[in-house]
Amino acid sequence: MSPARVPVPEPPARTARQLREATSSALRRRRADDLNPLRRGLRLERVPDPCSFVLFGATGDLAHRKVMPAIYQLWRTNLLPAEFSLVAVARRPYTDEAFVAEVRASVEAHSRVQPIDEDAWAELAKRITYQQLDFGGDAGFDRLSKRLDELDAERGTAGNRLFYLATQPSQVTEIVHQLGRVGLDHELRGAGWRRVVVEKPFGRDYESARRLNHELAKVFRESQVYRIDHYLGKETVRNLLVFRFGNGIFEPVWNRSYVDHVQITVAESLGVESRGAFYEETGASRDILQNHLLQLMTLVAMEPPSSFHADALRDQKLQVLRAITTPDIEHVRHDVVRGQYGSGWVEGVAAAGYREEPEVDPESETETYVAGRFTIDDWRWSGVPFYLRAGKRLPKRATEIAIQFKEVPLPLFRDSNGDPAPNVLAMRIQPDEGIMLRFAAKVPGLGLDVRTVNMDFDYGTSFAVDSPDAYETLILDALLGDASLFTRADEVEAAWSVVTPIIEGWATMLAPRFPNYAAGTFGPEAADELMQRDGRRWRRI
Ligand code: BG6
Repeated sequence: MSPARVPVPEPPARTARQLREATSSALRRRRADDLNPLRRGLRLERVPDPCSFVLFGATGDLAHRKVMPAIYQLWRTNLLPAEFSLVAVARRPYTDEAFVAEVRASVEAHSRVQPIDEDAWAELAKRITYQQLDFGGDAGFDRLSKRLDELDAERGTAGNRLFYLATQPSQVTEIVHQLGRVGLDHELRGAGWRRVVVEKPFGRDYESARRLNHELAKVFRESQVYRIDHYLGKETVRNLLVFRFGNGIFEPVWNRSYVDHVQITVAESLGVESRGAFYEETGASRDILQNHLLQLMTLVAMEPPSSFHADALRDQKLQVLRAITTPDIEHVRHDVVRGQYGSGWVEGVAAAGYREEPEVDPESETETYVAGRFTIDDWRWSGVPFYLRAGKRLPKRATEIAIQFKEVPLPLFRDSNGDPAPNVLAMRIQPDEGIMLRFAAKVPGLGLDVRTVNMDFDYGTSFAVDSPDAYETLILDALLGDASLFTRADEVEAAWSVVTPIIEGWATMLAPRFPNYAAGTFGPEAADELMQRDGRRWRRI
């Protein structure tokens, strides 16, 4: 796992050339430092090897909103090598100039640092070429292979290639097959690594995920495959590991003896926007539960890894996924709730119901909300419920992990005024990133009144630096060959074996009467009832 990255200060007055020169001398220094064991602990930023970044689906939404702004940001802060080329691949015809102009507009619209640094952009733009390619045909891949060889000679990209598949999931198999056919998977002796980054959704159930893993494995070794779950690249999610394993005081209470239950929430105020057709096929269980929510759960529940090497970390996450009780039909009926939003008001603005959204079936039974109670069958967590929920068109955007601790064994302050509630440790993943600890305190005065107060750590005020976007972190890690924040084949399959029985169970049951929550509310009543049955309630977000 990469260390926390110290952002490079803004370079306003320097030209791109000066920046490159500065980078090379910094690189030389870093290489010398790498050889010096005393300095190895003081990790500076690492810069990837010279390489070509081949972006499939380059004209799509993901490429424009996330991948290209992240590449620009990495380039701007000197985290990409000078010997870098980006080959944009898609079906539509474009000239290099037209593509670069379109990407420039997207970077302007979505970059987290404004305004655009003209010198840096000009240098990056020189390294971008566009290649039209029909994913189903051989000819385009033959041309691509040749082009990449030419770039090695022209740009010094040294035979290293990262294939980023920002395409429709259905196109992944044929692209991978073609890459194998033209030999672009082969790592060359001495030089030339080959990696493939695959976007979510990774399959739509256990069987299809296994098939996809199988197809990938026909061409690439597992160590070459980087499956993205962008939540793992979020700064606050990475901090969860530091919080748990960089501090000694939490681990002793991080178990069934002290924890009453855990709540993990991914709430969004947005609806499905322009992704109606995609969402109809997906729903909240495939879109968020199978990946983001279960990944957060693994990070909360896993045993300490022996190191932050990719496999050490992923082995521990896998143990958690495998220990989650597989939901049976009774569990699905009682402990998992699905919802779909109707019309309502979100943040003061009228919002249409899901069934009125573009490209959505007016009688759709797709869930836009899911909540469930899960348990982990191991010594640490046996008997501790994990309540997970995710929904669209909730009152606000908030992702949070809350650990609620057990009540004190003897409530000594029962008779005092006030209501000392159990301790809660809440980790705010986004927005207002931070960590809050709730505890009881005496109200000043002559009596013995007790009230609950919050102790708050706020990222924004504690660190006066911007966090990188998750895509910056993950793309850099993939280029550096660090797979710790990417999901492994067995992890993805284990997560599907938790979610597939839910989806299959629902298929055999009568769907609830949808819509069952209004846009701008906290989800269906059944989700509250789920908690009430256990004598608990959802935290207000
Ligand atoms: C994506 C889902 O993976 O995550 C989207 O497909 C969702 O439906 C998004 O909106 C949420 O990501 P973030 O980073 O905005 O919390």
